[in-house]
Amino acid sequence: MTRTVRAKAPAKVNLQLTVGAPDADGYHPLVTVFQALDLWETVEATPREDGEIRLTLDVAAGAPVDASGVPLDASNLAWKAADLLARTYGITDGVDLHLVKGIPVAGGMAGGSADAAAALVACAEAWDTGASRAELAALAAQLGADVPFSLHGHTAVGLGRGDQLTPAMSHGEFHWVLATQSRGLSTPTVFAELDRRIGVREQAWSDFEVDREVMTALMSGDAVELGRCLTNDLEGPAISLMPRLGDVLDAADAADACGAIVSGSGPTVAALARSRQHALSIAAHLRASRTADAVVTASGPVTGTVLVQD
Ligand code: C5P
Repeated sequence: MTRTVRAKAPAKVNLQLTVGAPDADGYHPLVTVFQALDLWETVEATPREDGEIRLTLDVAAGAPVDASGVPLDASNLAWKAADLLARTYGITDGVDLHLVKGIPVAGGMAGGSADAAAALVACAEAWDTGASRAELAALAAQLGADVPFSLHGHTAVGLGRGDQLTPAMSHGEFHWVLATQSRGLSTPTVFAELDRRIGVREQAWSDFEVDREVMTALMSGDAVELGRCLTNDLEGPAISLMPRLGDVLDAADAADACGAIVSGSGPTVAALARSRQHALSIAAHLRASRTADAVVTASGPVTGTVLVQD
């Protein structure tokens, strides 16, 4: 009997994103601190006997998502995740994957990576592979730099390509306002713009460190402190590719956010609030500023990818 299995995976924001010189594959070594946020991608997996992988897509109610550019073929990361899992475990069944998107597309919040993580967990269960969480994490790293964190969730330091994770201590709940743009930014283009601006780097990646102030602010659950020490090396490049992002950051500052930063490679801007109430007030200011195409609130840290029961 075929059954449908559902999994959900969270969005992420980078609290620190320090980028080194690209390696021979063009990937950049990172020192990053991830926090998982409660915007979710959901993937439903229903096995098919014919061995085919098929994708369908919906947008979650009220989510700031334009999914028109999302491919539904073998180039989709959820498709690749199912295919990799099937090849690894010798699965001959196929699967119908239904994606319900709640994370902005090409927004710097790991929406595509969350699709892959949710597809891995849902298919592993639907196909009864018996794969352990550690085995899924190893497959996640093959799919993309942010996929292991989507699986892991909570708060973590990411080294290497961002895929070598160490859990980090964090206390309490942080409240965010996310200002999204309907046009996405391509991650490789933003990294390339950083390389163009820096030229030859003086500092070796091995000299980069996790920011102690970020760790201290997380452990004390202090949003005001955390807001002061948010950093992202990709922020300048993202702003030069989309100058409007500078206006969003100015609007967040004027709205008295504890801090604001471009999320990952952008173009989403994440503004940190002192409380849920403060987040609603910042969101109202950002909407009124008309610098973003949509504004939503979110909180973190939250769990990584989990199965969802009906
Ligand atoms: O791993 P993922 O597929 O998400 O990365 C997309 C692109 O972003 C890579 O092909 C690469 O150009 C760039 N990237 C990078 N360094 C990283 C992560 C991503 O240069 N650590």
